[in-house]
Amino acid sequence: MSSYIVLLGGPGSGKGTQAEILVEELGLPQVSTGELFREHLKDGTELGSLAREFMDRGELVPDEVTIGMVRERLARPDCTSGALLDGFPRTIPQAEGLDALLAEMEAELTVVPYIKVNRDTLLQRLAGRWTCRQCSTMYHVVFSPSFKAGICDRCGGQLYQRADDTPETQLRRIDVYFEQTAELIEWYGKKGLLVEIDGEQSIGAVGAELLMAVREQCRT
Ligand code: AP5
Ligand code: MG
Repeated sequence: MSSYIVLLGGPGSGKGTQAEILVEELGLPQVSTGELFREHLKDGTELGSLAREFMDRGELVPDEVTIGMVRERLARPDCTSGALLDGFPRTIPQAEGLDALLAEMEAELTVVPYIKVNRDTLLQRLAGRWTCRQCSTMYHVVFSPSFKAGICDRCGGQLYQRADDTPETQLRRIDVYFEQTAELIEWYGKKGLLVEIDGEQSIGAVGAELLMAVREQCRT
């Protein structure tokens, strides 16, 4: 049976951190729209320069562009038996777009874990985040520091702070989340797909709760 899972949560709630754990445990590919846009940026594609205009301001990239990119990603062979969607959908039109894409694939959503984290914690997490340039492993100066400052424990790569992690853009991304994405909580709640996870706990405790919820739902 296929498992398509949407990780819902604000910027800094831990979607990427938890996706790393779930990918290993469930053997599903991670499909992060933020990461896909950043790859396009790095490769200097047309899509990348279009996305940059929005990302630098902390705004959402237009729905049609984002849905088109996800369509292309889900069509790849590694997604035929499921995927872990991180940061998509972020609007109701995107959620409708995802339903349509999955229907074309004769699949449907399995579960939508919502990582609930309050605004102050979101800011604190974004402010201290460092990411490996080479393998994308995430660190936090206080909550999960690397052994050697600025160097990735896993691959020895250099750590950097994301271009959209300026204080101003962080605030805007959080506002955009509450204005445009949070309504998906109710949307998926009504569909009976939402499972709320307490995201204020430690990384390991959130991961354990998430895994239990996902496994439970994949069984039913
Ligand atoms: P995206 O890359 O998705 O960014 P985001 O939603 O702002 O979320 P983040 O990646 O910042 O946070 P996260 O939840 O992954 O947290 P993380 O695990 O890193 O999107 C970037 C931009 O791309 C958007 O602004 C938009 O422009 C565009 N975009 C992307 N998708 C789009 C879409 N669908 N439609 C339109 N536009 C789109 O954790 C954060 C930090 O906290 C880390 O340092 C981590 O170590 C730490 N941490 C995590 N969990 C815990 C914990 N439990 N306790 C303590 N520390 C923790
Ligand atoms: Mg992320």
